[in-house]
Amino acid sequence: MKIKILPTDQIYKEVADVFSNLITSKEYPILGLATGSTPVGVYNELIKRYQEGKLSFKNVTSFNLDEYVGLDGNHDQSYRYFMNHHLFNHVDIDKNKTFVPLGIGDIKDNAKKYDLMIDAAGGIDLQILGIGSDGHIAFNEPGTPFDALTHEAELTEMTIKDNARFFESIGDVPTRAITMGLASIMKARKIVLIALGKNKVDAITRLLNGEVSLDLPVSVLNTHQDVTIYLDKETFGYLEK
Ligand code: GLP
Repeated sequence: MKIKILPTDQIYKEVADVFSNLITSKEYPILGLATGSTPVGVYNELIKRYQEGKLSFKNVTSFNLDEYVGLDGNHDQSYRYFMNHHLFNHVDIDKNKTFVPLGIGDIKDNAKKYDLMIDAAGGIDLQILGIGSDGHIAFNEPGTPFDALTHEAELTEMTIKDNARFFESIGDVPTRAITMGLASIMKARKIVLIALGKNKVDAITRLLNGEVSLDLPVSVLNTHQDVTIYLDKETFGYLEK
């Protein structure tokens, strides 16, 4: 596991570089994308590069990690809406090749098909991840088995509280989600995780201590071959000393 401690702006640029390098070097790149506030700076950087004519998403396929159960893609708090708004509407990606798990209809069936679709596309080349304050990745909460594929998950109280800031009231936050499982995420050939801010210190400290436990979902990454963790200098600078 590689660790990079950098100012936030530089993290966005470096991670955008990793994406750009893949997109320009591979004919049909497969991206694994994430929502949350953390990756937005990377998406802004990618949009800028597209607008400057340095990058095209024409041949890109993308798979997002998760979606709230009960929200369709037109709902302004759905992750499909988030992705359109923060990235897809601003670049030349073919929206038919952007996949977000479906949070409506037969969730079990949607979940089963999602992993098959990822595999059929050739698997994810590069997965970007944020992290929840309880150490969740995507919506894999503590206790999720490491061998889980895409599935329906119940959100913890902590996650509901954390995510309430995006909703009018805490009662509006969905309590369930459809999420790629830890095993689906681990299949990605390369993984980049970004953690910004004090509420991530606990989970990151445990991760860097080498913990591998169901109690800390992100810790599954300690068993992956190619992971780079980007930590903001303002919060994590003390680790350099
Ligand atoms: C949600 C998402 C996660 C994300 C987390 C952290 O729970 N399902 O994928 O990592 O939020 O969000 P933020 O980046 O806003 O801290």
